[in-house]
Amino acid sequence: MTTQSPPGPRGLPVLGNTHQWARDPCEFREECADEYGRVVNFEIIGWDAYMLTDPADVKRVLEDTDTFPKHDSSTDKLREIVGDGLLTSGGDRWERQREAIQPAFFMSHIKNYAEIMVSRTEDTIEGWRDGATVDLREEMMRTTLEILVEAMFGEDIDLAARGIYDAVEAMQEPLKPQNQPVTFLAPDWAPVPFLRRADRALDHLDAQVYDLLEERRRADTDREDLLAMLLDSDAEMADEQIRDEMLTFLFAGHETTALTLTYVWDLLSRNPEAEARLHEELAEVVDERPTIEDVFEFEYAEAVVEEAMRLYPPAHEIRREPTEDVTFGDYEVPEGSLVVLPTWVLHRDDRFWDDPEEFRPERFLDGEASADRPEYAFFPFGGGPRRCIGQQFAMTEAQLVLATMASEWTLDRDYGDLELSAAVTLQPKGDVPVTTRRR
Ligand code: HEM
Repeated sequence: MTTQSPPGPRGLPVLGNTHQWARDPCEFREECADEYGRVVNFEIIGWDAYMLTDPADVKRVLEDTDTFPKHDSSTDKLREIVGDGLLTSGGDRWERQREAIQPAFFMSHIKNYAEIMVSRTEDTIEGWRDGATVDLREEMMRTTLEILVEAMFGEDIDLAARGIYDAVEAMQEPLKPQNQPVTFLAPDWAPVPFLRRADRALDHLDAQVYDLLEERRRADTDREDLLAMLLDSDAEMADEQIRDEMLTFLFAGHETTALTLTYVWDLLSRNPEAEARLHEELAEVVDERPTIEDVFEFEYAEAVVEEAMRLYPPAHEIRREPTEDVTFGDYEVPEGSLVVLPTWVLHRDDRFWDDPEEFRPERFLDGEASADRPEYAFFPFGGGPRRCIGQQFAMTEAQLVLATMASEWTLDRDYGDLELSAAVTLQPKGDVPVTTRRR
């Protein structure tokens, strides 16, 4: 078989295609997929990139972690913050960590967190007033952060007084869409206020995590939070590793779920029929307040969350780096290049989705055509051995937060079209004001 270099858009000298990518990564990737097909070659920020648009190729890459480990661009910057936790490590070290941590995310443990998920959401809606305006993303961020931190450390610790919430927010400031260009280009010593705040926040979180760890090691308590799970693990983790994993959860474990919920509410407010169908299911399933058993019964609520993640996948692409020259069909992809798996593009590909731009949760209900779709036409949580470890946690949480909120409130949008920024995660560009209305 003769092989050839994949086609792709012509770039500028030095810049390559960076300017097209930077203008609108989602549109750029969609146009490339439409025009060039299965494998598209382009150059961004000096990387020789190959975007794959066939679900079978996505499957091959995600499932073969030896040939396709993570690309440095998705781990280097992050490692400065979270160290060598699950998200950033690789090889044998990652394999041992994954095995040790996996049990903490079994459904039998996630059940323990359901009550926290509902209670912290109740705290959020307690602050809402009929006809008042709140920022949708901020409300979801605060709620999911409180849930995560309590699931990690337990409810009896005054996390606010320890400055943990504020520190996590400051730690994530450099990755806000408007701050990212500076974050990625400024030298480490640059006197940029939000970067220095993030450094101080990280020191604070470090101290807090070690402090909580020491307290736990001293007092042998019967607890079921994530920290206890790591401490009890057969793998006997060193304090530094537990610190790295805790920081990883703080980093990876709430923003993506908050974004999913933001998109869920945005889509519901534009699709009153879907919202009405959701209310019907809630009325049927939920008694006084939502429970984990209700989550097992939800069908439409789950489909709403999945359909929102199809249209707006928070992880809008996944990156890998081949350790050897590989071929996809007739196309060559060289060792050391950047392989892009464009979640956004596959989730909107009309080969697999009818009217892909439309919000139709019914697609995910049994009996619909879902069985005809290839496995990796939908992969909001990645796939293969490095599939998101928090998938069940996030799906349970999104449904419980949504059910708790939607049982009592609707949120009317006070903004025009949702403008998006495909930064590290897919984020709304500006504020997302909504009016809270009691049902
Ligand atoms: C809707 C919410 C979420 C989405 C869309 C999401 C998405 C993803 C994706 C796509 C990956 C794979 C990245 C890759 O292969 O390069 C991933 C990995 C990961 N996620 Fe999530 N995630 C979510 C929630 C969570 C939660 C709640 C936690 C923890 C509490 C979490 C912790 C992690 C960790 C530790 C990894 C690395 C796993 C490994 O490499 O072994 N995520 N996530």
